[in-house]
Amino acid sequence: MTLRLFIVLAALSAVQCKTSYKICVPQQHLKACQEMLDVETKSKAVLECVPARDRMECLYYVQQRQADLVPVDPEDMYVASKFPNQDFVVFQEYRTDDEPDAEFRYEAVIVVHKDQPITNLDQLKGLKSCHTGVNRNVGYKIPLTMMMKRAVFPKMNDHSISPKENELKALSTFFEKSCIVGKWSPDPKTNAAWKAQYSQLCALCEDPQKCDYPDNYSGYEGALRCLAHNGGEVAFTKVIYVRKFFGLPVGTIPASQSSENPEDFAYLCVDGSKRPIKEKACSWAARPWQGLLGHNDVLAKLSPLREKIKQLADAGAATKPEWFTQVLGLSEKIHHVADNIPIKPADYLKKANYTEVIERGHGVPETVVRLCVTSNVALAKCRAMSVFAFSRDIRPRLDCVQESSEDDCLKSVQDNGSDLASVDDMRVAAASKRYNLHPVFHEVYGEKKTPNYAVAVVKKGSQYNNIGDLRGKRSCHSSFGTFSGLHAPLYYLINKKAINSDQCIKNLGDYFSGGLCLPGVDKPENNPTGANVANLKKQCSSDNDNSPLKCLQENRGDIAFVSSAELPKYDASQFELLCLNRDAGGRDALANFATCNIVMAPSRTWLSAKDFLSDVSIAHTPLSLAELLDDRTDLFNIYGEYLKNNNVIFSNAAKGLATTEKLDFEKFKSIHDVISSCGVA
Ligand SMILES: *[C@@H]1O[C@H](CO)[C@@H](O)[C@H](O)[C@H]1NC(C)=O
Ligand SMILES: *[C@@H]1O[C@H](CO)[C@@H](O)[C@H](O)[C@H]1NC(C)=O
Ligand SMILES: *[C@@H]1O[C@H](CO)[C@@H](O)[C@H](O)[C@H]1NC(C)=O
Repeated sequence: MTLRLFIVLAALSAVQCKTSYKICVPQQHLKACQEMLDVETKSKAVLECVPARDRMECLYYVQQRQADLVPVDPEDMYVASKFPNQDFVVFQEYRTDDEPDAEFRYEAVIVVHKDQPITNLDQLKGLKSCHTGVNRNVGYKIPLTMMMKRAVFPKMNDHSISPKENELKALSTFFEKSCIVGKWSPDPKTNAAWKAQYSQLCALCEDPQKCDYPDNYSGYEGALRCLAHNGGEVAFTKVIYVRKFFGLPVGTIPASQSSENPEDFAYLCVDGSKRPIKEKACSWAARPWQGLLGHNDVLAKLSPLREKIKQLADAGAATKPEWFTQVLGLSEKIHHVADNIPIKPADYLKKANYTEVIERGHGVPETVVRLCVTSNVALAKCRAMSVFAFSRDIRPRLDCVQESSEDDCLKSVQDNGSDLASVDDMRVAAASKRYNLHPVFHEVYGEKKTPNYAVAVVKKGSQYNNIGDLRGKRSCHSSFGTFSGLHAPLYYLINKKAINSDQCIKNLGDYFSGGLCLPGVDKPENNPTGANVANLKKQCSSDNDNSPLKCLQENRGDIAFVSSAELPKYDASQFELLCLNRDAGGRDALANFATCNIVMAPSRTWLSAKDFLSDVSIAHTPLSLAELLDDRTDLFNIYGEYLKNNNVIFSNAAKGLATTEKLDFEKFKSIHDVISSCGVA
């Protein structure tokens, strides 16, 4: 070997020693990730930050080798295990300092009174039960998963009610009384109705009327208090809290004082036997630790990476900077990083019996809710949402149906080929009529998560109080055909009998006789009769910016009819709203559009057919998903762009979903009737 070649080889291997790894991070935490790179560690392994839309996209990046690792929850591991052709491995676990050697994060146990006459799980029937809270792992999901295997447990596949209601009904039939606090449905009305109907499920709570957090008999320890002091006969909780409750040592935590006597209670094992509380618990299933997920190629250079992560975890433990939580996924309690023998995510879940907990159903045939979409990218997103929602215990399972157009989707819902299809804006009124459908939920927007409203903007300091004050004045509008720019003001004027409904466009022009800027009014398709529209575009400027804002700013108009979605562009020190919805009229600040407006505007809305699945079933999955992701867009940003496409399934502007009120929908229908009678709809 020549000396020169040797030097080249030596240099190459030196480069390889400084091994580098790409950690995937949700876009919104990229900055925090870069701060992490500046942290000094003994390890010379180099990390690189790869931004992705959210954790779901991170999984994809890791599979594609665009990234090497991403921190995940057990539920994400489940999603990962469903990727076709994946070779993911879990190679480090995030544990607590309290239990650095525990195999699982928590183990689900049943605790009973020592003398409770019970020799098998069937005898849980008719007891008074204590739970952590609805939808939680050890106090709800795991017991349901285990009990529904038994013939004595009521069937949960009644399709005339929703899967969640099936659970509540089964639990309230099986147990005599319980305490299961929390929000049973994301829809407040449904929640209240169920709390009334299945009130036995709240009877053992401290405050049965409220049946919500905080309740002294809810939570891990509360379930034990419920058992010990509130007449409970069986409690579903986790091991570590049982040991704490009875003052027993756990992990690194020494024994403590407790007035509770462990001799009075026992664990109930899966085989029906009892075991003293002081002995090792027998558990049903466990929730595994969170951890780091990589692809198979990482295994070849694992040690430097593991050391690096451990050193970063130690470096951040005292101050817990943003990267500690948002990039590495560690927390106040959970920051002990432990190496494990690299394992496939599916096997990791299986050894905790957690797969069956995630996959728990309600008995065949399982209810599904079928969402109709019209593009390949929407189909891909729908399928991703489906696996994600399923992994997080949201039922019914989401199914995806593809049709070639919005109308085909609406038709498909009408014919029971799918359960949900969406339409934008005022289409909701026409589509519901044409296909005999009704709205179930809609998007909400902005910081305050409200629908949009049609609003009337005036200059601050103007003396207008009601619409009558504007007769003969000049108006600016969002384009022809928009709800806020045309339909809402027309409806308002006709409804107030300020103008006549025949020839309503001409009448609008006459009302604002000072002149209008209604962009698009002169297009042939908007003016088939070729009526004289000179007054209707008189106030438009000659250049191309005919936005209502510019129209007001350049003093070409006295009032602007726009959507509240536009208001962030308006300067609150210059403009305010005219409250046409109030009988007394008046003006208010731009920020108060939800109470000072013309009328609520229809959002993107999902329609379902009458008489098929109940709306409660249909809405449960999307509403629960939206609620779960409300403050966790880092997990799955369902409103963000998808594979570089905008407005896929949801509009990019959406911030959440809400149940559509019947009254609001009736209003849209009557607006539709009014404006179609004058030929504008
Ligand atoms: C909670 O319940 C326990 C047992 O019934 C009782 O000793 C305790 O005072 C209660 N705590 C509160 C805050 O009500
Ligand atoms: C899993 O289930 C089996 C029996 O069904 C049980 O013996 C075992 O303890 C469970 N595993 C965990 C981690 O709870
Ligand atoms: C609608 O379609 C589903 C799935 O094919 C079917 O199970 C259900 O019975 C149908 N419902 C009605 C009312 O026809």
